[in-house]
Amino acid sequence: MNMHHRKKITSTQIKARDEQPGPKHFEREVPWWKNSIVYQVYPRSFLDTNGDGTGDLKGITAKADYLYDLGVKTLWISPFFTSPMADFGYDISNFVDVDPIFGSLADFDELLKTMHSKDIKVVLDIVPNHSSDEHEWFQRSLRREEPYADYYVWADPKGFNDSGNPIPPNNWLSKFRGSAWEWREERGQFYYHQYHRKQPDLNFRNHRVQEEIKNVFKFWLDRGADGFRVDGLKHIFEVEDLNLDEPVDEEAGVEDNLHYNYLKHPFTMNQPETFELVRDWRKIMDTYQDKLLMAQAYSNDIQDVMKYYGNDTDPLADFPFNFCLVEKVQNRSDVTGTRLKKIIDEWFDNLPKGKWPNWVLGSHDYSRVASRLGADLVDALNMLTLLLPGTPVTYYGEEIGMQDADISWEDTKDPRARNFGPDHYREQSRDPRRAPMQWDATANAGFSRGPSTWLPVNDNYKTLNVKAQSEARVSHLKVYMTLARLRQERSFAKGKLAFPVVTDEVLAFIRYLEDEPKYLVVLNLSENDVVVDLHHHANLKLPPDASVITRSVSDKSEENSPGSKVNLSALMLVRGEGLVLQLPFAEEIE
Ligand code: NOJ
Repeated sequence: MNMHHRKKITSTQIKARDEQPGPKHFEREVPWWKNSIVYQVYPRSFLDTNGDGTGDLKGITAKADYLYDLGVKTLWISPFFTSPMADFGYDISNFVDVDPIFGSLADFDELLKTMHSKDIKVVLDIVPNHSSDEHEWFQRSLRREEPYADYYVWADPKGFNDSGNPIPPNNWLSKFRGSAWEWREERGQFYYHQYHRKQPDLNFRNHRVQEEIKNVFKFWLDRGADGFRVDGLKHIFEVEDLNLDEPVDEEAGVEDNLHYNYLKHPFTMNQPETFELVRDWRKIMDTYQDKLLMAQAYSNDIQDVMKYYGNDTDPLADFPFNFCLVEKVQNRSDVTGTRLKKIIDEWFDNLPKGKWPNWVLGSHDYSRVASRLGADLVDALNMLTLLLPGTPVTYYGEEIGMQDADISWEDTKDPRARNFGPDHYREQSRDPRRAPMQWDATANAGFSRGPSTWLPVNDNYKTLNVKAQSEARVSHLKVYMTLARLRQERSFAKGKLAFPVVTDEVLAFIRYLEDEPKYLVVLNLSENDVVVDLHHHANLKLPPDASVITRSVSDKSEENSPGSKVNLSALMLVRGEGLVLQLPFAEEIE
C-alpha cells in the first residue's frame, strides 16, 4: 500500500458502512452477555480441593475472586454431570446430577450463589447429542424396554460377512476414528455414535427424547443457571434413510479411511430438523429471564454456522461459536494482518441483521495460542478478541499464556488420541491443552495438594503461573486485566469500528464513539521487530501521535511504556506486539 491509496473516510461513508448488514454501530442497550467475557473452565483442571488429583466444583467456587478480579462476567463450565468419564464428562449418565468426582448438587448451588454474589453469570455445558452408554436410558433401550426402545439410533445390519460378522448399515465414521456403528448382540442391532463408542447418539426423531432434553434445560434453569453452551449441536440429527453412504472427500486427501475427514458429511451434519429443535429450546429459555444460549456448531462453510443465529423474527442461539480464528489460523504463518482482517470481515459480513459477534481463540479441543501460534502473540491476540465488538471467549489459562503440556503416550487419557495409537496420538490428543491450571510455583502448580494429578502439570509452571504474573510489574495477566477493564468503556462496549491499516505485517483498528475517548489498537503480526509509518499506510486520517495505554509484555522499550506519547509515523513494535493507544481527544475519525 502506498500514499496514493490513502483515502479519507467521511462521516457519510462511515454511516453507509453502518448500514451494511452486521452491527457496525453498537450503541444500544445490551443484555449482560454482550459486554461480558465468557471464561471457559474445564473443571477437571481448574482447582482440586480434595487432593484426588482432579479439579472440582468447590475449586471453581474458591476462585471466584480470581475470576472477579480478572474482569470475567460469565463463567462457562465444561460438563460436571454424572459420567463414567470415557470422554471426561462429555459422556453423561445422569444429566441432572453432579458427578461425585466434582462434588454434589449442593456444591453447585454454592458455586452459583458465590458467583452471583460477584455478579458473575454461570453457563452450563449441555450435551444433547448423546448420553453415556451407561445411562439408564441406554441400558433400557438395549433391552428394548418401552418407552426407551427408540431413544437411540438403532439399525439392522446391512448383512453379514463371510465370517458371519454383522456389517454396519452404512459407511459413516465416528469423529473419534473408525465406524460410527457399534454392534450389540443383546439387541441384534447396531447403534450409532458420532463420537466415542461409549457415547451413543440420542434419537431426536423420537419426541420423548426431545422432551427429556427440554426437561434437562428446565432443571438447570430452575436451579438458577444463566444459560448453556450446547455441545455438538450440528450432529443432533442424521438423515432418516440410514442406507445412505457418505461420499469420500477427494479434496481432503486423507489416506486413513477410518479418519473422520476421509468422508464428507452431508447426512450427519446440519440437518434441517436441528433448527426446529433449537427454536423450541429458545422458547424455553425465553420463558426465563435473559438467558444465554451458545451453540457449538462450527463448519467450514460460514453460511452453515450463521444459520444457528436465526434472525430477528426467528431467534435461535444467541451465537454459534466463532472458531474462525482457530480453524483458519492454524500456525504462525497464517497470522497476517490481511488474513485476520479477511476472517473478521467474513464474520461481520455474514452476520444476520441485529446479531452479535463473538471471538474464540481456543478451547479444550484446540491447541493453546502460545503453542499453536507463538508465545509472542498472546497479548496481541487477547487485544484483538477483547477489544473488537462482540463477546470474547477465553479458555482458562489463556490469560497467563499457558502452553500445551508435553504428555507421553503412557499418560495420555484423551479417548480420541488413544484411538490413534502410540504412533499418531500426538496429532490427535487434546490432553496437552487440558493440563492443570498453573496457579503458583508450589507442587502441582498449586492445582492440587494430592500426590499426583489426572494429567501432568506443564513443566514450565514454576515460572509461568498466576501468582508470579500477579506479582510481576508487567505480565500477560496484567495486560489481560487492563483489556478486560477497557472493554467496559463505552468506546469499546458501544463504539464503532474502523480498520485504518491492514497489511500483512500490521493490523490496526480504532474503536470510537462521539464524546468518548478514541482508541487505536496496533498489532505487529510479523515475526520481526518493525518500525511502521501508520500514516503512510492509513486509509483514514490519523493524528500525528497517541499515548500508550498498554502493550505486549515482550516490549520493554522506554518509548512505548504506558503513558508515553508515540509518533504514529515511526511506531516501533517488537515481534508479535500489540499496542493499545489512546488518540488525542479532540481528534475526529475521518
Ligand atoms: C465436542 C466437545 O467440545 C468435545 O470435547 C467432545 O469430545 C465432543 N463434543 C463430544 O461430546
